[in-house]
Amino acid sequence: MKPEIQLAVFASGNGSNAQNLITFFEGSRIKIALILSENPNARVLQRATLFQVPSVIFSMSELQNGQVLQQLKGYGINYIVLAGFLKLIPASMVQSYQQRIINIHPALLPKFGGKGMYGSNVHKAVFNAHETETGITIHYVNEYYDKGAIILQKQVALTPDDTPESIAAKISELEMKYFPESILQTIEKHNS
Ligand code: GAR
Repeated sequence: MKPEIQLAVFASGNGSNAQNLITFFEGSRIKIALILSENPNARVLQRATLFQVPSVIFSMSELQNGQVLQQLKGYGINYIVLAGFLKLIPASMVQSYQQRIINIHPALLPKFGGKGMYGSNVHKAVFNAHETETGITIHYVNEYYDKGAIILQKQVALTPDDTPESIAAKISELEMKYFPESILQTIEKHNS
């Protein structure tokens, strides 16, 4: 039997994507082995407890000084998934996990990306720009916000009736449907 592949999920808030990944990969060769957050109040931590996934709360200095990287190595983590993670991944972690850190962004990059473009800020920006479509971008992570190579984009049409809230709902639907499968395919491609 092929060895298990250990995934760590970084999330700063709600954690609906993290939970979706936990349930999607349950019972498979790919395991969500660790949930990490810099936000002690993040709902994702409650979800981790509920699904009995170990979790780690870290400080920004621990992220930047390599302690978090050491923990990932200690857990034998092979891939990192950013699922609603607010902060920049330090260069040392990017180098240790080249092409093995995957982020989801709730818009069609390169539009509506960069620092501060997170969650509802993105949906409001899309709404204010009167876009006729939006979507999700799944991409590799490099040292810059939202600049890594794109793995997959999926579009959804917007109508004049859409609001930032309805845009968020459309995006969530795409994320639930495509993110786990895209991670699976990416990992299988590397390990085939
Ligand atoms: C998701 O929509 C994700 O695409 C977005 O944050 C949300 C987290 O929701 N990520 C970013 O905006 C990254 N720049 P969740 O915590 O319920 O999974």
